[in-house]
Amino acid sequence: MKHLTLMAAAVAGITASMMVAAAPVQADAAKAFKKNRCAQCHTVSGKHTIGPSLKGIMGRKAGTAEGYKSSRYSDSLIAAGEKGLVWNDKTIDAYITNPKQFLRDYLDDPKARSKMAYPGLKKEDQRALIVEYLNSVK
Ligand code: HEC
Repeated sequence: MKHLTLMAAAVAGITASMMVAAAPVQADAAKAFKKNRCAQCHTVSGKHTIGPSLKGIMGRKAGTAEGYKSSRYSDSLIAAGEKGLVWNDKTIDAYITNPKQFLRDYLDDPKARSKMAYPGLKKEDQRALIVEYLNSVK
């Protein structure tokens, strides 16, 4: 039983340190979204600009932002959504690494095209921050 108590204490410790860290990480995450240009084309407020708003993006089927006309999306992104693409930590991370290549792989179609004029973000730590940020904009 003793080790269980120790484990519980360790978990409580981790939780406490996460709570302390939450505020600065959140600020870094928002910064990463701006710094890596996402904010040039996407709001997180529900307002659509060059790209669809990313408010509530997690768990949503690709190509289905409410009020963003489906004709504004690329055929490839719509097709990916119809094939079952849902946005989560993993799929967003892979998509923003290289949007065009991601769609080509996902659709198994070498001609797939993305309308997101963004070559991709190679820095893993920045992608992780952006994913964290998108999880917070419900
Ligand atoms: C130059 C403008 C531009 C930039 C920069 C940009 N995007 Fe996009 N984004 C778009 C457009 C346009 C689409 C629609 C793509 C399509 O239809 O193929 C899109 C689509 C998306 C989608 C899918 C939305 C949906 O409704 O299915 C996600 C997620 C996304 N972008 C995240 C990001 C992130 C994160 C960044 C920063 C790393 C970023 N975008 C940078 C314009 C941009």
